[in-house]
Amino acid sequence: MAGRLAGKVVIITGAANGQGRAAAELFAAEGARLVLSDLDRPRLEEAAERARTVGAEVTVHLGDLTREDVNRELVNAAVKRYGRLDVMYNNAGRGRFAPIHEAALEDWHFTLENELTIVFLGCKYALGVMLKSGSGSIINTASVSGLYGVVGHGVHAATKAGVIGLTRQIAVEYGPKGIRANALAPSRVDFGEGTRSQVHATGLDEYPLGRYATPLDCVRAALFLASDESSFITGQTLIVDGGRSAR
Ligand SMILES: NC(=O)c1ccc[n+]([C@@H]2O[C@H](COP(=O)([O-])OP(=O)(O)OC[C@H]3O[C@@H](n4cnc5c(N)ncnc54)[C@H](O)[C@@H]3O)[C@@H](O)[C@H]2O)c1
Repeated sequence: MAGRLAGKVVIITGAANGQGRAAAELFAAEGARLVLSDLDRPRLEEAAERARTVGAEVTVHLGDLTREDVNRELVNAAVKRYGRLDVMYNNAGRGRFAPIHEAALEDWHFTLENELTIVFLGCKYALGVMLKSGSGSIINTASVSGLYGVVGHGVHAATKAGVIGLTRQIAVEYGPKGIRANALAPSRVDFGEGTRSQVHATGLDEYPLGRYATPLDCVRAALFLASDESSFITGQTLIVDGGRSAR
């Protein structure tokens, strides 16, 4: 298939819902060969079917990505089906948004596991394969709350700052091996009615562009980082916040 990702083998984590689901559709249309992973089986199967309708090759992988063996299996699934891995899009995540003085230690551990450990493990196993081919692009979804304070984001801010630090470190250590790593930092994403996102609302007047991000806004930025169009960009955090951080 032709397109901006023609022939590239891409893993998208958290592909059952939200941004990951939008990425599956967009990347499929751009010619990627996909491995879609999540723990939400019915929604994941649906996302895979949608990606197949545009002619993409799609493998589905189910599991809890906070587990090391599940990440190993995921990367092995890509190599088994396609023989390589070009792009690792570590998008999956779920956090708890209690104010810090009210957050239980269990909330801290849960958020750390599901937002930072999950990215570390995805990177670890992707790097193992990318080192063999001497190329690859890693995209780690952070958040603007990893860059500036957002009222109510609590421990989530610490984990997303960790994602950004980890991404920079990978860029520096693995750039000489041909591997790029960049972070994506969306502000609040608006999924429309009936969605699962529980992100704390921020006044629209804080956004120069006058609206929240859509999933497509975020995954178009991810598409750029996945493609060779960003071939000299690594270690960066691409902010998708409608200009909020420019104020
Ligand atoms: N929604 C927002 O406003 C917003 C803003 C900034 C950053 N983000 C980040 O964007 C990323 C995507 O989130 P989203 O907004 O699309 O939310 P979402 O809840 O719609 O999708 C997240 C997906 O990740 C999956 N997932 C979560 N934990 C998992 C685990 N342990 N193993 C396997 N799959 C798991 C979920 O099942 C879900 O399908 C996350 O990293 C999130 O922190 C979201």
